[in-house]
Amino acid sequence: MSGSQKNFKDEIENLMHEIEKHDEAYYVQDAPTVTDAEYDVLFRKLQKLEAEHPELASPLSPTKRVGGKALEQFKKSKHGVPMLSLANALTEEEFTAFDERVHRFIEIEESRKLEYFAELKFDGLSINLVYEHGILTRAATRGDGEVGEDVTENIKTIRSIPMKLHTEHPPEKIEIRGEIVLPVRDFLRLNQNQINKGEKTFANPRNAAAGSLRQLDSKITASRPLTGFFYGVGEVVGFELPKTISEFENQLKAWGLPVGQWRKVCHGAKEVIEFYKEIESLRETLPFEIDGVVVKLNAFSLQQTAGFIARSPRSMIAFKYPPQKSVTLIEDIQVQVGRTGALTPVAIVSPVNVSGVIVKRATLHNQDEINRKDIRIGDHVVIQRAGDVIPEVVEVLKDKRRGDERRFFIPDTCPVCGSPAVRPEGEAVARCSGKNCIAKLKERIKHFAQKDAINIEGLGDKIVDQLVDAGLVKHLSDLFKLSYDDVLSLEGFAEKSAHKLLNAIESARTPELYRFIYGLGIRHIGETSAKLLAQHFKSFKKLVNANTDDLLLVDGIGDEMAKSITHSFEGKEYIDELENLLEFVTPIEPKASGESQVFAGKTFVLTGTLPTLTRSEAEKMIEDRGGKTSSSVSKKTDFVLAGAEAGSKLEKAQALGVRVISEEEFNQLMK
Ligand code: IVH
Repeated sequence: MSGSQKNFKDEIENLMHEIEKHDEAYYVQDAPTVTDAEYDVLFRKLQKLEAEHPELASPLSPTKRVGGKALEQFKKSKHGVPMLSLANALTEEEFTAFDERVHRFIEIEESRKLEYFAELKFDGLSINLVYEHGILTRAATRGDGEVGEDVTENIKTIRSIPMKLHTEHPPEKIEIRGEIVLPVRDFLRLNQNQINKGEKTFANPRNAAAGSLRQLDSKITASRPLTGFFYGVGEVVGFELPKTISEFENQLKAWGLPVGQWRKVCHGAKEVIEFYKEIESLRETLPFEIDGVVVKLNAFSLQQTAGFIARSPRSMIAFKYPPQKSVTLIEDIQVQVGRTGALTPVAIVSPVNVSGVIVKRATLHNQDEINRKDIRIGDHVVIQRAGDVIPEVVEVLKDKRRGDERRFFIPDTCPVCGSPAVRPEGEAVARCSGKNCIAKLKERIKHFAQKDAINIEGLGDKIVDQLVDAGLVKHLSDLFKLSYDDVLSLEGFAEKSAHKLLNAIESARTPELYRFIYGLGIRHIGETSAKLLAQHFKSFKKLVNANTDDLLLVDGIGDEMAKSITHSFEGKEYIDELENLLEFVTPIEPKASGESQVFAGKTFVLTGTLPTLTRSEAEKMIEDRGGKTSSSVSKKTDFVLAGAEAGSKLEKAQALGVRVISEEEFNQLMK
């Protein structure tokens, strides 16, 4: 390295270090040390130096936190140690019973107070971070507890999470567990933005956090102000854990990870209950949502002794708070028409603040619920938000009635198209029977266009309403017949935005088969069952031609679903409409991989850069042939596929005697 190279390298490192310090002060300590403008200057300087000297840029640079190339799908990631769940206590009695149980399991007399560690139960999305030699190498969602989704790129955009632990002596490997959350204020702001863009809003901060983290495009995640709190440990290699969780959290904090600010070592159940009550009184004022406190035996050794029951540690419990309630007035009851024509009564209430969210509507579910609770227009009611923004009416305050309250009955005709509403025997819901109901059409289009279905980007609710109201779209297929002038004629559109929408419609014409099936909005067919159907039938035509018996052969498809599918494909009108639609949309059928399953049961680990294949290409080839890929080498690994600059994985493979192959040998094996 030349002298000037060395200077640049030092300068880059110094800047990185300085920015990381400011990031930690801002995002973790909540105590900024520089102004935004000063920070920007440093950040741009670093970006510029890295652009001029790419060979000196570090993958750990804070400039890498802005998100990168979008993924096609998330890779699976197996946790070193499974991520378990917690048992709940909903009352003080249930908590006391937990305390007594713990005494029994660790064989300590009941009169002796146990040392518990109590902290907040963050209402977010659990995450497993893997640090190897102090460097963040992987981050995965909980998934089914054994295997989650690899969201490393997205986690790297969260600035409160260090890319490198602040220590000279990091563990060889450690799994750190925590929760990703979106603060309530940012959640409200995000929803407002979604509304402005005509996109779907999130039901609650937890869903918003999950939706933001599970973005294939990490640039979107980077634009969402997520943060996290860390509290747990999974696999540990080359590091001696402290004796207690409270000390472990101090360790996490010293490493630069955010930990909850409200936590306490409690002696005995009584102190825990005091802490629980203290936090309950603070709950409304916390910047993020919590749904309880988590109480854990503080000593790791005693946690071991207590053991596990089913998938939960016996030494811990989620001591939950009841859902938050408020009293408000029902000003009106309206009926919403859903995609399948379901008529849902919704109470329009005087705006009221329920745990930080302003509530204006509450669902009343159906007529039976209205009757059972005797809900009337003009009633004062207790509403409860159990996590979701749309709360429900739990109780009518009958003492407050003045006599002018009005009963409500769901009309027997659709409030939008006037067709008769039909309520089949044994069902709670009445549905609009209109074939050309505009409300149903709008909902069907919204469902069809959404991200999880065929994904017409930018076709938000408002635009769908406009298109239908203007008579431009009467069937799903009409979306693809829209002309530039049609779109331009809508309020709010200009040249650029009209082209943008038409391009988005054009790009949505080749959805994956399951997304197309899901998008059709067949009753009872959600994303998961759509996937099963696509995998099984492989072609849309085969699905349409399947009878109930054929459908029941699909693992995971039950009676109700099968009937709903055949029922949907019965009508001539519907089939005509589908045929029209298929002139514009070509669902991509899942490949019968067709490859011989030469790698069935084999596990591969990829390392280094291969001469011609990208990592995801190689992974796909392995999976298509029945093999699996894993991110770490163990005795169970069958092959390590190694390219240039393979690092520690190669060494580990050699140490364990695992077969190492080159791309060329890999190609040979496939033959
Ligand atoms: S400890 C065995 N501590 O709650 C699992 N979990 O209902 C140990 N959670 O899956 C988890 N805040 O995602 C723990 N302070 C906290 C938590 C917490 C939120 C979540 C976590 C867990 C779920 C269980």
